[in-house]
Amino acid sequence: MTMCPDASPTHYTNPFFYGKASVSPALSIESLRTRQPLLWLNPALSPVAEVGAPLPLGLEDIRTADALLRRWAPALTEWFPELLATQGVIESPLVRLSDPPAVLRTKMPGNVWIKQDHALPVAGSIKARGGIFEVLTIAEDIMAKEGQAWTTPLAPLQPALRRRFADYTVSVGSTGNLGLAIGMMGSALGMNCVVHMSRDAKDWKKRRLRDRGVIVIEHDGDFAAAVAAGRSAARQEQRHYFVDDERSRSLFLGYATAALRLREQLAEAGIVVDPGHPLFVYLPCGVGGAPGGIAFGLKQVFGDAVHGFFAEPCASASMLARFMTGVPEISVHDVGLDNVTEADGLAVGRASEFAYAMVRELVSGIFTVRDDDMFRYLYRLRTTQGIAIEPSAAAGFAGPAMLWDTAEGRRYLDERNLRPVLAQATHLLWTTGGALVPAGEYQRFFDRGQALAAKHEAATR
Ligand SMILES: Cc1ncc(COP(=O)(O)O)c(C=O)c1O
Repeated sequence: MTMCPDASPTHYTNPFFYGKASVSPALSIESLRTRQPLLWLNPALSPVAEVGAPLPLGLEDIRTADALLRRWAPALTEWFPELLATQGVIESPLVRLSDPPAVLRTKMPGNVWIKQDHALPVAGSIKARGGIFEVLTIAEDIMAKEGQAWTTPLAPLQPALRRRFADYTVSVGSTGNLGLAIGMMGSALGMNCVVHMSRDAKDWKKRRLRDRGVIVIEHDGDFAAAVAAGRSAARQEQRHYFVDDERSRSLFLGYATAALRLREQLAEAGIVVDPGHPLFVYLPCGVGGAPGGIAFGLKQVFGDAVHGFFAEPCASASMLARFMTGVPEISVHDVGLDNVTEADGLAVGRASEFAYAMVRELVSGIFTVRDDDMFRYLYRLRTTQGIAIEPSAAAGFAGPAMLWDTAEGRRYLDERNLRPVLAQATHLLWTTGGALVPAGEYQRFFDRGQALAAKHEAATR
């Protein structure tokens, strides 16, 4: 790990690291260590047109990525019949949250919608966006190497081509959901698939992959350790592609295509996004690729009318630690956190440097969420709206209250003069995983959320 020579947990208490004097001095690395939920505003946030660092990707790259996905759509319907209804396009529904205060326990003005990536076909999580795109990119790379051109829209289904794919291995390090996406897509193509699972990965995800013939290697370490092990194993072999969740540009682009799709869905729903109709987006964050790609894409599409906030578990605030300290590759352990959370998809101790660099000036802020609160949101969403999600996917639900009911949130709204347009605002909660969770496992989440909600209601009555 790369660290500043004199870096130590106490080193970060220096408010210098916040960059700008206007940031509340109460928000220090010490505040992270208390594990109390907090909202941190990004002092480096800049208008899209004024982002200082030249970024290696732009809207044209996102369009090209979307075109690749559409090229594969006919073949995808053959492997995954659930995609017939959308003609091979892997997309999730956008629905309105009917009674926001009942779920969110705040009266933030504006309309609240849910972008349901928990129900994304094929792999049931937001990671399918990047994972499937990257495997298809790899497949096209193999086709080019092997001199196999696209002869028909269904070319990838030809036995000769599948025999070529079988000579290659695709592998990944994961907390579970990215592994599912890579394993589902790679095995459909006939590639050899290896998934290095971190200790947080749930058993049902491993079983599901093994049932498809995927090799699952279990690691005692956390996400970073699983990625490192996978990376080094892949280096030993020829014809081996490693999907690197900490560094991949393809994964990032796959996530970013969501912005183009969302633009269509918002238009269909009659939702305007412009400076008079801001769009607040609340995205659960692990290593940062998925929320980073989506926030980046939305900024390219809608510009400064989008306000992107990331949500992290209190114990795994890796992207927040990266932003607050400015220290490359810092781990949550360096700031006194243990990275232990029930939100397995977000159990990441060290943020992606690539994702960080891409959104450094584009993300509005980051907030932290207690595990208990995620379970309460999960329970209330199910009882009021009938939607079942996994704990990680509920992290963003704290967003509206963070903006409306905290001093930092109000400061954000006031400094940008957003209060007068809040009634016309759209709040988008991005539910990032859950559709494939087995019923028994989900019931345990639900029971825990129910007990916590009852306790909370009794205490606040
Ligand atoms: C359900 C869920 N939500 C959110 C995320 C966060 O994505 P990222 O790790 O790219 O930040 C993950 C990552 O695995 C996830 O599984």
